[in-house]
Amino acid sequence: MKTDHICTFTQANKAAWDASAHLHGQGKEWDELLLAASQPDFNVLDDCLSATLTELGIAGRSAIQLGCNNARELLSLASFGARPLLGLDQSAAFLAQGTQLAAASGLSPRLVEADIYALPDDLGRYDLVLITIGVLNWMPDLPRFFQVVRGLMNPGALLVIYETHPILEVFNPDSANPFMVENSYFDKTPVRIEEAITYDGSDGGAGETGYWFVHPLGEIVTACVQSGLGLQRLQEHPHLNREVEYAIYENQTAQIPLCYTLVAEAPSVLNTKE
Ligand SMILES: C[S@@+](CC[C@H](N)C(=O)[O-])C[C@H]1O[C@@H](n2cnc3c(N)ncnc32)[C@H](O)[C@@H]1O
Repeated sequence: MKTDHICTFTQANKAAWDASAHLHGQGKEWDELLLAASQPDFNVLDDCLSATLTELGIAGRSAIQLGCNNARELLSLASFGARPLLGLDQSAAFLAQGTQLAAASGLSPRLVEADIYALPDDLGRYDLVLITIGVLNWMPDLPRFFQVVRGLMNPGALLVIYETHPILEVFNPDSANPFMVENSYFDKTPVRIEEAITYDGSDGGAGETGYWFVHPLGEIVTACVQSGLGLQRLQEHPHLNREVEYAIYENQTAQIPLCYTLVAEAPSVLNTKE
């Protein structure tokens, strides 16, 4: 996809995220999050991702999170002994919340407002790149995305992706028959999102128009490997890590995958052209 075209989508998505931020940075849940961030061993990561990071042994690794939102997950990496140094997101409004959470936690990662497809040159390289729930679907171009990720990694660095499973995109949990396949897994048409973005199923009202992209799992893995990273692990999970309306697909006798963990490693020697 041409750069101009990519940026048309990402600029729209920036407006959509900024316009939704006020729904997240206030109220009881926000107050509880601020309080939790001030406690030792603050960790909002779920059991699955926590187990992966523990097993990988990330202590001492310098870490970046792409699409870090309010940085609560980035800050959580400190409880595993990693050094959360950089959070990157294009939403200034969510990063402002991240600044408050970082201050509460006593940590001081650099929080950079930037489009993943148009990064400043001075970001450096890291030993761990974390990408979690709900980032890949906002990316218009996966091969370009993984090239950016690869360029932020030190030799031997780990990429950990913990994402929603693309098979869920074929269903509409709000339809009369939510188990009927309604959308093609292979439809490349960006999905227009008109509502404000909430995570708890609540109605946040109308928002700015954003664009959601369905990427089949095969394309995700292929783009990752073609960027030069070595695939270490691709694990599909039966539990849910996305919005509550999708909970109807969990705990079924005939279970589809609901999310996945992908771990990839940068080559131990840096290519001189990189
Ligand atoms: C679902 S959210 C958050 C992800 C994280 N799992 C969390 O819960 O905090 C996705 C984030 O990606 C960011 N994002 C989307 N497209 C982006 C882009 N092109 N460049 C940088 N950030 C982007 C949004 O602003 C949003 O904060």
